[in-house]
Amino acid sequence: MPHYRTVGEVPPKRHTQFRAPDGRLYHEELVGEEGFSSDSSLLYHKEIPSAIVDASTWSLPDLSTVDNHPLRPRHLQSHSLFADPAACNVDLVNGRRLLLGNSDVRLSYVVAEADSPLYRNGLGDECVYIEFGTAIMESVFGSLAVGPGDYVIVPTATTHRWLPTGDTPVRAYCIEANSHIVPPKRYLSRFGQLLEHAPYCERDLRAPAEPLTRTGEHVKVYLKHRGSVPGGIVGTVLTYPTHPFDVVGWDGCLYPYAFNIADFEPITGRVHQPPPVHQVFEGHNFVVCNFVPRKVDYHPLAVPVPYYHSNVDSDEVMFYCGGDYEARKGSGIGQGSISLHPGGHAHGPGPGTPEASLGAEFFDELAVMVDTFRPLGLGEGALDCEDPAYAWSWNARRDGGAE
Ligand SMILES: [Fe+2]
Repeated sequence: MPHYRTVGEVPPKRHTQFRAPDGRLYHEELVGEEGFSSDSSLLYHKEIPSAIVDASTWSLPDLSTVDNHPLRPRHLQSHSLFADPAACNVDLVNGRRLLLGNSDVRLSYVVAEADSPLYRNGLGDECVYIEFGTAIMESVFGSLAVGPGDYVIVPTATTHRWLPTGDTPVRAYCIEANSHIVPPKRYLSRFGQLLEHAPYCERDLRAPAEPLTRTGEHVKVYLKHRGSVPGGIVGTVLTYPTHPFDVVGWDGCLYPYAFNIADFEPITGRVHQPPPVHQVFEGHNFVVCNFVPRKVDYHPLAVPVPYYHSNVDSDEVMFYCGGDYEARKGSGIGQGSISLHPGGHAHGPGPGTPEASLGAEFFDELAVMVDTFRPLGLGEGALDCEDPAYAWSWNARRDGGAE
């Protein structure tokens, strides 16, 4: 995140004496990526940020996966995991149900009505897409009010928590990377500014505007971090003597921010545009794209739905989060559906949909896509909400659905 920002009080010169009104020195913390060689921010704490008084084990939710074997396309009905209102009595961190994952990224879904504990992901950045509901995301950098359609990017090791607001639980699709999640390099100037051809710009990004301080003693922070086994993930609860939200000011280029999918300006053409024009973010070995309501292909002989495609290097995951997804009509896909189209198998529109799409001028569809460059395994959530008929839906008549 190369856009410089300053919030609250900071001294005019970095790494110099900066004192509280009572004369005590503030404690300066540099939060930086890639070993002092990439983006960073400087935070000024009232108390020592490394002071802890206890460490205990956090038993993480089940993060195991099984191979997609025998290989087939999958349809996961994420909403069914939380159809029982009692299932929503969870928080946005501990209540996540793992759908798909590999050693680069994990995709989970949660419907949460409870406040989360303070949480920090030490493995990588998180991109939390809010499907419905509203919340405040509080962090050491300040607060962000978020709502439907927001992507919330939380940098690695940011202490934060999720507080649902409003009358309905928050529905969130969580993309947890083992790397950093950033705008695609081709959208950026060599100095990091978003370029004219990018589908969004700095004005579309929202970030904390004021410092956030809280008081407390013996405050627990739930930390997800690397284990010693390759790919292993473990959890620890650290207890801090005072509240970690004690930053009076910070500045730099690394901080949480939100971007709403409605601010993504779609790129269209006379004939079908390939998925890279829909890209929003990227991490190591995966990309995030979105399909938004848009005018569609306007060549007189255009076929507006996609051609069949075989992405030989990718597993493709679509989260259908709004509108009416044209290409998958008749397949059982609906709001909250997640499709997995694995590498090694061609996919595309359902039977009859290319013909039916001719002459269409506008698609009212909303979907978030994650393409991974290594195969995804199925988590416990996926095994609990799969529609077993989906794999055979291309073989069904359009008006007959998935038979
Ligand atoms: Fe595709």
